[in-house]
Amino acid sequence: MQAPGTFKAYRVQEKEGNYTASIEQMPLKDLQSSEVLIRVEYSSLNYKDALSSIGNKGVTRNYPHTPGIDAAGIVEASESQLFKAGDRVIVTSYDLGMNHPGGFAEYITVPDSWVVPMPADFSSKEAMIYGTAGFTAALSVYRLLHNGQKPEMGPVVVTGALGGVGSIASQILNKLGFEVIAANYELAPKEDIEKIGATRQIDRTGSDDTSGRPMLKTQWAGAIDVVGGNTLVTMLKGCQPLGNVTTCGNIGSGDLNMTVYPFILRGVSLLGIDSQNCPMTIRQEIWNLLAKDWKLDMDASLIQEATLETLQSHIDVMLDKKSRGRVIINLR
Ligand SMILES: NC(=O)c1ccc[n+]([C@@H]2O[C@H](COP(=O)([O-])OP(=O)(O)OC[C@H]3O[C@@H](n4cnc5c(N)ncnc54)[C@H](OP(=O)(O)O)[C@@H]3O)[C@@H](O)[C@H]2O)c1
Repeated sequence: MQAPGTFKAYRVQEKEGNYTASIEQMPLKDLQSSEVLIRVEYSSLNYKDALSSIGNKGVTRNYPHTPGIDAAGIVEASESQLFKAGDRVIVTSYDLGMNHPGGFAEYITVPDSWVVPMPADFSSKEAMIYGTAGFTAALSVYRLLHNGQKPEMGPVVVTGALGGVGSIASQILNKLGFEVIAANYELAPKEDIEKIGATRQIDRTGSDDTSGRPMLKTQWAGAIDVVGGNTLVTMLKGCQPLGNVTTCGNIGSGDLNMTVYPFILRGVSLLGIDSQNCPMTIRQEIWNLLAKDWKLDMDASLIQEATLETLQSHIDVMLDKKSRGRVIINLR
């Protein structure tokens, strides 16, 4: 198929410190020159995209800009030896959608080093149901397992459990035989907790300890945290000996104020998760796990499908920190 002369994109404009978004028809030649031109079939919404859409300079320095840190689709043209027209591919993280025009558009161009071949029997839509959130969830579980976490050690807490990363991490852990405790700001309806494979839940009174004690009674064998701040501190203080706690997010806070005692008296490990700079070999391994052994049979209510035209309302919900499950964007 011949690429058209123009394409549609969700563009954020800056005017005197105010940021507004609209759908624009853009000339294809305006795309940054790069090795692989991809016709995007699906993208997905992540917290970074929401921040980029409101002018967060920690995510995006210069505007006008097209957010979208995720994209899956078909190679339209390639100057790379690694990919050819017609290949089905996934691109997540690196600088896509941050300071490089992103996946909230019908076309993207990217360096070949960012491109992951689509695993067999996996569609663009399936890939974007996971997106960076699912990839990060899987990377968190992968790192727990590689550091010795086992189901028989006891339950694993997942914070922000109903959000993008948390809901997928909970379901993967459940699939692998772990008991999962969902931690949310407020207690959620029982059916929502069951949908993500958790058997128990705690609210902020359990996940945000304010006693000031350097260590707490051990209550879990490990944790996947997306919130940061005192929630992450509570996960570490309440973790049993030799347990693992991953940290990937700062949705609550970027601070980490605590003593070293959980580490030196209980051997608890804190594992950092950086999906953006994950090496390509591990990146491909994780996508293959998501497409096969860790593939989830997700409840339909955890997936919302948007278009570029309806995307804004989903971004507003995410900025309000009320996200539930995953939002995918259909660009076909
Ligand atoms: N390091 C990486 O590579 C990487 C990759 C992807 C995402 N992230 C980060 O991971 C975090 C989560 O991303 P996401 O896509 O899952 O976001 P999300 O879909 O917006 O979900 C976040 C969840 O956190 C909960 N929450 C919000 N504020 C909270 C607070 N103050 N205390 C406790 N819970 C709170 C919300 O549920 P409740 O209010 O019901 O609790 C919400 O469902 C973000 O900080 C994101 O930037 C990092």
